[in-house]
Amino acid sequence: MILKNNNPNMSSSDDDQEKTRKQHAQLIKELPKTGGWFQPDMFLYQGQWLIPNVILGATLMQNHFKHRSADIFLSSFMKTGTTWLKSLMFSIINRSRFDFSDHPLLHQGPQSCFPVFDAYISQDHAITNMDNLPSPRLFASHLAYSLFPSTYKDPSSGCKFVYVCRDPKDVFVSKFHFMKNVRPKELPVLSINEAFELFCEGLSEYGPYWDHVLGFWKASLESPNKILFLRYEEMKRVPEVYVKKLAEFMGVPISAEEEENGVVEKIVELCSFEHLKNLQVNKTGVLQIGSIIAVNNHHFFRRGEVGDWHNHLTKEMGAKIDQITQDKFNGSGLTL
Ligand code: A3P
Repeated sequence: MILKNNNPNMSSSDDDQEKTRKQHAQLIKELPKTGGWFQPDMFLYQGQWLIPNVILGATLMQNHFKHRSADIFLSSFMKTGTTWLKSLMFSIINRSRFDFSDHPLLHQGPQSCFPVFDAYISQDHAITNMDNLPSPRLFASHLAYSLFPSTYKDPSSGCKFVYVCRDPKDVFVSKFHFMKNVRPKELPVLSINEAFELFCEGLSEYGPYWDHVLGFWKASLESPNKILFLRYEEMKRVPEVYVKKLAEFMGVPISAEEEENGVVEKIVELCSFEHLKNLQVNKTGVLQIGSIIAVNNHHFFRRGEVGDWHNHLTKEMGAKIDQITQDKFNGSGLTL
């Protein structure tokens, strides 16, 4: 079943949204299904493996959410550095509003800075609440580029995407550890070997990983002013350069005076892994994702390193992922 796209550029009434919610139950029944990593089942929706609540979020977005030209989506596959980018984008755009020594990031943590779009949108009144947010609005999403309606992608629409990707070997290791922590105890244990095979086959939430990356990569080549394509490893190497790139892309370039005053370094320090990991809010706080998932903030801060896969995967496993990456990205011009 394909849900009818009424008018993706218009927020619609509660009644219309209610119809989409009702159709969702039927849609789920018709989709291909397999075991999930942190829920019993996940479903293949328009080429991406998603849990039911996120499919509802995607259909609500596709049918009812009204985007604005000033919107910026932070898009990523899970475990590629979303938390870091959230912190950076929030502190860059709000840098003249908040004092670095008494910054909301210090008290609320990165997760509360702006909505996890895919899960939040399915909550009651979320679309209205998001309609009421002032511009520019920031949203974090793990949805594939192909799931966004064409009106979002049209060069004339103005709305932008920041995309961050990461070496899939580190993504797998990070995701495996994260899922081990959040997987309900009622589900059978997922071993690293089982998870590895599933990941390689593309069978993990928001997967296949390579399709996710390629979707945004190709779009960034076509519309570089609309999609900023970033690599976690490069950002770790020279974060200052990327703070400036992000600021420029988001339409709030760092001025010469700000640079002289050390604003770039202050943002890098505020959002650094060590700093964020040790904040009380990130040690004890809880992120409520949608109405059904609650995750302790500390699970979003593990090692924050490049190449941690060496500590968890054999050389053969590493070579297998590299081969898949090479095959999938062949001819795209993308290397990781
Ligand atoms: P590891 O598990 O390899 O440590 P996401 O935010 O997309 O869920 O990604 C989580 C990954 O980013 C984790 O990787 C986490 O430790 C790392 N991370 C979190 N905050 C970071 C930061 N400020 N700088 C660099 N990496 C960070």
